[in-house]
Amino acid sequence: MIPIIRKQNMPSGAIFSLLLALSIHQTLTADVPPTVVAVETSSPPASPVTPGPPERGSYNVTNGSDTVCLLARMGLQLNISFISSSHGKTVQEVLNLHPNLVKSSGSCDPDSATLVLSEDNINLTFSFSLNTTSNKYHLSGLELSAALPDMAKGLVFRNTTLNYMVGTLGHSYMCQKEKILSITQDFSLNTFQLQVQPFGVNGDFGAAEECDLDEDDMLIPIIVGAALAVLVLIVILAYLIGRNRSHAGYQTI
Ligand SMILES: *[C@@H]1O[C@H](CO)[C@@H](O)[C@H](O)[C@H]1NC(C)=O
Ligand SMILES: *[C@@H]1O[C@H](CO)[C@@H](O)[C@H](O)[C@H]1NC(C)=O
Ligand SMILES: *[C@@H]1O[C@H](CO)[C@@H](O)[C@H](O)[C@H]1NC(C)=O
Ligand SMILES: *[C@@H]1O[C@H](CO)[C@@H](O)[C@H](O)[C@H]1NC(C)=O
Ligand SMILES: *[C@@H]1O[C@H](CO)[C@@H](O)[C@H](O)[C@H]1NC(C)=O
Ligand SMILES: *[C@@H]1O[C@H](CO)[C@@H](O)[C@H](O)[C@H]1NC(C)=O
Repeated sequence: MIPIIRKQNMPSGAIFSLLLALSIHQTLTADVPPTVVAVETSSPPASPVTPGPPERGSYNVTNGSDTVCLLARMGLQLNISFISSSHGKTVQEVLNLHPNLVKSSGSCDPDSATLVLSEDNINLTFSFSLNTTSNKYHLSGLELSAALPDMAKGLVFRNTTLNYMVGTLGHSYMCQKEKILSITQDFSLNTFQLQVQPFGVNGDFGAAEECDLDEDDMLIPIIVGAALAVLVLIVILAYLIGRNRSHAGYQTI
């Protein structure tokens, strides 16, 4: 991916123009205006306006004796489709959980833990499982019961065979970027700035295990850094070679 220049005596002028071309390219691309998001005004409001990213909440579950046994902080956004009673057709609704309105509860057992978040007309239950052989945990189930004003009747979306947020006992699972968790055909959960630890909590979060998305994010600065290092090396080499040459030139005179 990084072009490695094997030519030993590449003239420094060429390198200079290469650098120049790179910087010009950068300024050009920086000037490209951002794509304008088209606002649809003609179509009927089948899918209402998407709210902004949700606020991050902090939710703890304490065991009988006031010891915290589950830690979670995350922003949560529900994306559900259901038949609207007023429109008489399927609508897509995206709604954020509001940490200041959410009541949290839950329970902890040796190999399972639940976190229940309740707001107005919504109950959202996270079920975590711990495999005591491999000492790995994961989000194994999620249930949303919702009774939104536009629903003809309350609905339940449930999946008990999930495999999300896989972490190691004693560690926390972290995903800073938005992640879309598909739960059922009609319900997906979007998580933001998430960090959870459903087992082995010792006062605070354990060392974080990052999700793939975050690791990909780390890769970009590493690649850019490596490319820059190579460029600097080339320039230094060219300078040294150039200096040696002119030095040799003076000697022959
Ligand atoms: C909600 O889900 C629908 C259907 O899966 C998808 O097209 C849409 O982009 C989602 N919206 C958000 C904000 O996640
Ligand atoms: C929480 O308490 C229950 C009994 O009340 C106990 O069985 C369980 O091991 C405790 N869990 C933790 C994580 O302390
Ligand atoms: C727990 O992990 C072990 C070892 O990875 C595996 O063999 C076993 O099937 C797992 N148990 C469950 C209930 O998933
Ligand atoms: C949420 O749970 C509470 C307590 O179990 C219950 O009273 C309420 O009806 C539930 N709400 C929905 C929308 O299912
Ligand atoms: C539950 O989630 C799994 C894994 O994402 C998926 O394969 C399965 O179809 C889902 N089940 C239901 C009832 O939506
Ligand atoms: C949850 O626990 C963390 C760490 O112990 C603490 O900083 C935070 O204030 C707690 N949040 C709530 C809502 O109790």
